[in-house]
Amino acid sequence: MPQIVFVPKEVEGGEPRVAASPDTVKRLKGLGLDVVVEAGAGTASRIPDAEFEKAGARIGTAADASSADVVLKVRRPNDAELKVYKKGAAVIAAMDPYGNDAAVAAMARAGVSAFAMEFMPRITRAQSMDILSSQANLAGYQAVVDAAAEYDRALPMMMTAAGTVPAAKVFIMGVGVAGLQAIATARRMGAVVTATDVRPAAKEQVASLGAKFLAVEDEEFKAAETAGGYAKEMSKEYQAKQAALTAEHIAKQDIVITTALIPGRPAPRLVSAQMVASMKPGSVIVDLAVERGGNVEGAKPGEVVTSANDVKIVGHLNMAGRVAASASLLYAKNLFAFLETLVDKETKTLAIRPDDELVKATLLTHEGKVVHANFAKAETAPVEAAEPQPQPQPQPKPKSASKKGDA
Ligand code: NAI
Repeated sequence: MPQIVFVPKEVEGGEPRVAASPDTVKRLKGLGLDVVVEAGAGTASRIPDAEFEKAGARIGTAADASSADVVLKVRRPNDAELKVYKKGAAVIAAMDPYGNDAAVAAMARAGVSAFAMEFMPRITRAQSMDILSSQANLAGYQAVVDAAAEYDRALPMMMTAAGTVPAAKVFIMGVGVAGLQAIATARRMGAVVTATDVRPAAKEQVASLGAKFLAVEDEEFKAAETAGGYAKEMSKEYQAKQAALTAEHIAKQDIVITTALIPGRPAPRLVSAQMVASMKPGSVIVDLAVERGGNVEGAKPGEVVTSANDVKIVGHLNMAGRVAASASLLYAKNLFAFLETLVDKETKTLAIRPDDELVKATLLTHEGKVVHANFAKAETAPVEAAEPQPQPQPQPKPKSASKKGDA
């Protein structure tokens, strides 16, 4: 009997994404596994059941989880879902484990092998498994689309017989994966783009995308990147210099998109209420870090707030989920690429090797225990490299009908 992979319909927070695609179903079948997809699992990502069926999956119900050897998910399973899974099943998802110790312990008690995809190391071998990159890339794109939709002027310069529309000025704060895609997208839409970051490596990347780089480039800046390529938390002094530099700039911008994150820390506050107050009416700020405490004072998770001076602060949650049909295809491929490494090609069964570096980095619970170094209750200090960090799994808000139709 082939082993079974189950793909449920997501139940938490109206999550529109799904953890498999017709393409990955075909590939899973190619590995010698059977695939059962819960009816309607792909609907919000525009994948009808018939497409999964054509690819070789059987369409089932939530109860089919009970016979699954592997469950592929977007979000961490809740207690009701865990009750159904069989002991020893592998569950692969964005587990959002930090601050959720009880939920991690519940997975251990359920006896499942839970893999946190957000802990995938950023090494060449695992690039195709990097959910943070695939989803942040789309989030950066969507942030610009949302900003443009909220902005009641045109983005590109337009020279017409009736006069000239000036190009919008867009400032991107934080240029990791999401920020770089936001720069590229804003440029494609004809905006004049500037960007800032605390990592020196970002400077060249910004220039290569045709945007202008703006940053306090002191000694601290030169040392701001960790070995893993992430940002460090900057000193109070640096933050003050950065605020002085950006305050003047922000006052002249039409759109500001913030994406700044520091692994293991709350998001740095980059835009103060005073900076918001300095902007022109009709300006738009999109805070992509809103789920991690926010880069912008006054940003509210899941809301579009309008300030007293008519600046809109967009705090949408689950940005990647707002482009679910694209996000699901990439996410599904990330999970397949990882699962493929866990399957023994001879026996066509799951073989979890705890000494494999990808397993070591991502395995949270196994054989009834919490096994990840960052969560095991042992005296051992958490591993220094708390990178990559998980993206919290937020409660998304449905798109408003005025934007892009229903979610
Ligand atoms: P992230 O999501 O952790 O942070 C977003 C951005 O915010 C980063 O560029 C960070 O430097 C910046 N930031 C933090 N504090 C800031 C502050 N006070 N002011 C302004 N900006 C601030 O970063 P992400 O997107 O995960 O990328 C981190 C690094 O990893 C990048 O160098 C990226 O190129 C690299 N990367 C490497 C991959 C690989 O080797 N497989 C895959 C994906 C990314």
